[in-house]
Amino acid sequence: MTAHKELTIGLFGFGVVGEGLYKVLQKTPSLKASIKKVCIKDITKKRDAPSSLFTTNRYELLNDPTINVIVEVINQSQPAFEIVSTALKNGKEVVSASKKMIAEHLPEILRLQKETGLSFLYEAAACASIPVIRNLEEYYDNDLLHSLRSIVNGSTNYILTKMFEDKLDFKQALLQAQQSGFAETDPSLDIDGWDAVNKWVILLCHAYGIVANPTDILFTGIQDINAGDAAVGREKNYEIRLVAQAKKLQNGKVAAFVLPQFVKQDDHLSFVKNEYNGVVIESGFADKQFFYGKGAGSFPTASAVLSDISALRYEYKYEYKKLYHHQPHQLSNNFFLRVYVSFDDWKNIPREKFEWIEEWHAQEERKYMVGVIAYQELKENNWWRQNNTSLILSPEPVIENVEIRKLKKKSLELAGII
Ligand SMILES: NC(=O)c1ccc[n+]([C@@H]2O[C@H](COP(=O)([O-])OP(=O)(O)OC[C@H]3O[C@@H](n4cnc5c(N)ncnc54)[C@H](OP(=O)(O)O)[C@@H]3O)[C@@H](O)[C@H]2O)c1
Repeated sequence: MTAHKELTIGLFGFGVVGEGLYKVLQKTPSLKASIKKVCIKDITKKRDAPSSLFTTNRYELLNDPTINVIVEVINQSQPAFEIVSTALKNGKEVVSASKKMIAEHLPEILRLQKETGLSFLYEAAACASIPVIRNLEEYYDNDLLHSLRSIVNGSTNYILTKMFEDKLDFKQALLQAQQSGFAETDPSLDIDGWDAVNKWVILLCHAYGIVANPTDILFTGIQDINAGDAAVGREKNYEIRLVAQAKKLQNGKVAAFVLPQFVKQDDHLSFVKNEYNGVVIESGFADKQFFYGKGAGSFPTASAVLSDISALRYEYKYEYKKLYHHQPHQLSNNFFLRVYVSFDDWKNIPREKFEWIEEWHAQEERKYMVGVIAYQELKENNWWRQNNTSLILSPEPVIENVEIRKLKKKSLELAGII
């Protein structure tokens, strides 16, 4: 494809993102990109576009030799993968926003791109309007990326903001998020952390060359956070965020997880409120950089899709530099986390599994403790997800210095505490 070549688009999906893109493209004639056909699921639905545009037969788009770009923005993972892979095999460039599909099929998607040599772009799939994927690919094309911390899910961030600022309990805050259009009728993918971990799989690939499956990464959502946790946070001058993070350890491996976290008020992420997303990147010489913007919604998401379509004009493709041109990093299971755990009954908390305990408040109705525990222990066991237990990371959660850990354990033993 040469620069300024006309792009003839076959669009899959005409929902929040698809219709947004249709409108945005009408307002950007300079792009020389036009939608030839739209494939949807239900032909009887009323649409704000000429009916001749629509079909339910995917092959009208996939087999049309005049269509050179497929934009896939449907809401089902398996058909999305079939559409994307057929499009690439049929010689078409592809733009997608389907994070679940990409995270679940990353190895196949990488292989297809290698085999076909075609572009497959998906900036909208992580943090929507924030151009984080292309920045990780192009600007941070080096070995100096120390850490990446991000709020990647607007629904959960909206709920946490309402629990904190308006002192709502979880159910009230969720209802308000749904009424304001910031949470789905079935919010489980967002609330339980699946959406966030899917995005994190995508960003880990571009940041560190790690090809992971969502289930390789320790994650949870905000389903167990309660008003008592928000009250403890307020007492300590912390806010709570669902943070997806990755940190390069001294051994060169990467600690990566998606968990609720207490953040200090001077942390950039505490600035990210309501439905917004944010990314803090820490690198060798630049110190910290902060990206902030809308992580969902019709036009913000369509703007990222539009930017990808525009990039196809100059044959832009992800090179996956960290994966193919550098030594890719590996995930580590060998580190420790400082966590706050709140609970109804201390019998449900295996205190002996903690390396050490720093706070213990067992008198209150809602009890809590702060302690240090092996990441592997949380990954392999589920006690912290059960019996109304809530786990929130401390502000500086990763501990990797084993010597200090051993000394501390020894000191607690000597003091007769453990
Ligand atoms: N909404 C956001 O803010 C946002 C942000 C970033 C990424 N995304 C991702 O973008 C994608 C689309 O999201 P959305 O919010 O636009 O979804 P949506 O509003 O639910 O719309 C989904 C569209 O896909 C069509 N569809 C479903 N299955 C299909 C199939 N097998 N073949 C053809 N069309 C099919 C539906 O057709 P009908 O109209 O006939 O039902 C509908 O038009 C998802 O993967 C989502 O995760 C969304």
